[in-house]
Amino acid sequence: MRPTTVWSQLKRAPTLLALVVGLLVGLIIGRALPSGLLSIWRSGNRPIFVSRLSARKQFTLPTVDQRHRVLELLSTLSPHHTTECTRNSQPLYIQQVRERYEPLLGYKPPSQTSWLSSLGFSSAQHVHSVSTKEHKYFFAINLYNSFDIIPDLFATLFRVSAILGYHNVYVSIYENGSTDQTKALLRIFDALTRSVGLRITIRTSTRTRGAFNHRIEYLAEVRNQAFNPLHELRDAQNEYFDTIIFMNDILPCVDDLLELIWQSRRNNAGITCAADYMYHDEIGAPVFYDNWVARDINGTALENAPFESIFHHSPSSERFQMHLPVQVQSCWNGVAVLDPAPFYTPPYVQFRMAKLLEQECSASECSLICNDYWAAGHGRILMVPRVKLAYDKKVFDIIHPSRRNLTAIRGYVRLGGLPDNPRTDPQDRSWFGPHDRLFTPEETAEIDFVPGPSHVWCWGWDGAGDIDGPDMDPIWESMPNKSQTPDAVKVKHQRGMSEL
Ligand SMILES: *[C@@H]1O[C@H](CO)[C@@H](O)[C@H](O)[C@H]1NC(C)=O
Ligand SMILES: *[C@@H]1O[C@H](CO)[C@@H](O)[C@H](O)[C@H]1NC(C)=O
Ligand SMILES: *[C@@H]1O[C@H](CO)[C@@H](O)[C@H](O)[C@H]1NC(C)=O
Ligand SMILES: *[C@@H]1O[C@H](CO)[C@@H](O)[C@H](O)[C@H]1NC(C)=O
Repeated sequence: MRPTTVWSQLKRAPTLLALVVGLLVGLIIGRALPSGLLSIWRSGNRPIFVSRLSARKQFTLPTVDQRHRVLELLSTLSPHHTTECTRNSQPLYIQQVRERYEPLLGYKPPSQTSWLSSLGFSSAQHVHSVSTKEHKYFFAINLYNSFDIIPDLFATLFRVSAILGYHNVYVSIYENGSTDQTKALLRIFDALTRSVGLRITIRTSTRTRGAFNHRIEYLAEVRNQAFNPLHELRDAQNEYFDTIIFMNDILPCVDDLLELIWQSRRNNAGITCAADYMYHDEIGAPVFYDNWVARDINGTALENAPFESIFHHSPSSERFQMHLPVQVQSCWNGVAVLDPAPFYTPPYVQFRMAKLLEQECSASECSLICNDYWAAGHGRILMVPRVKLAYDKKVFDIIHPSRRNLTAIRGYVRLGGLPDNPRTDPQDRSWFGPHDRLFTPEETAEIDFVPGPSHVWCWGWDGAGDIDGPDMDPIWESMPNKSQTPDAVKVKHQRGMSEL
């Protein structure tokens, strides 16, 4: 498919604009609309936000039009499609998203009109106040040979930041030893990002695995490097973040990221992950992917299997198949939203390899950080099945087929839907469904977290031989008593949204 810019979509089919795209377009062309939008976009001559406590030289922010041109450039450089994820969303989903994510908006609305009315929506039912409390987001991203995804990744970051508030976002990218032109491309994007007033640190490395003894030690080191600016900003400027979004080289849609952030804050969760899928050649369908890390709340591994057999723990399986958030012992799955509290307070969690001398099982650095969150009393870990991530377009298209107008198709009622009622659309109940699946009330309810399991299935990777993957016999590893107490899942750090 040919790349399409937001602007050309807007000109061609204004009524088709999905909210998330629409929101951003609204932000970008805010000036062109009758009433202005958020103050940070409007302020052509306000000092750029650097940090609360630093008094650096003041810059002038680019105008809305200038920012739009930068975004347009980004959106046309990429062969990917995240700009189109929400393009044809059904109207009811757009309305749901608008209401659901309103508490995440990181800017003050104009006092008279609501931000929605600026987008041309009726403001009557949206007059309730928008959260203006500052909530700071730290994006940590590891890249390696990522030339093809960088433009899309940045376009998504720009869009999400426009919603969360540019002044609330910090982006940290760590690139290790790429052999393509990733480094050169990153330099361009570093400049583009700064040009729109978004704070960013990009560090690249030529260190390779050879410098480390253990594979997991190396992977943990690579991940920790992306967190360095978090500690530097705290030390140098006393700046603290409220939410961390950790991403691999994956391409989530804007609403995927918003939903993970929303669930993380709604549940005051320690770690919140998506669900990722890979094509399985023997099965001939996409299956759940990251089962090296993912463990259900009984400690059992998830399976690389079709959706109905991913979870062994049956209550979890039931929720998973209804696309409802599920408490788990451990997960990562391409994107994880973290509560930063355990990074800031003793015992100072970080990515690490197993303590082999203490007989700890040599699990993934991502499993170990989940165990450490439990031990630190931040064991509220959950997986959000609605957010289904793919590593390529083939899988994305299978797990998110386009929505068909079933009212126009015979047999709709036989499939269990009521004519013209989008809330009973059987496509939303099917496993691989359209990306604009409607939210159910259960997805909004807070999760009731239970204490952790006594044992967790661990499949160690010693990395001594040539095997590219776990190479030890799996064991049931016993967990510390601390993570089995109710205190391990008590809320320690309130990050909720004031409206809920
Ligand atoms: C860089 O890190 C990634 C993991 O983030 C790893 O898969 C890759 O092999 C590393 N690159 C090199 C050159 O070792
Ligand atoms: C629950 O965990 C125990 C080990 O603690 C294991 O023996 C059992 O098979 C697990 N049950 C399920 C349903 O996975
Ligand atoms: C679906 O088709 C019906 C009947 O052809 C039509 O009335 C309705 O407007 C269509 N809905 C959408 C969302 O296009
Ligand atoms: C953990 O609990 C078990 C029984 O509940 C007890 O036998 C064991 O001594 C405890 N371990 C520690 C380190 O407190």
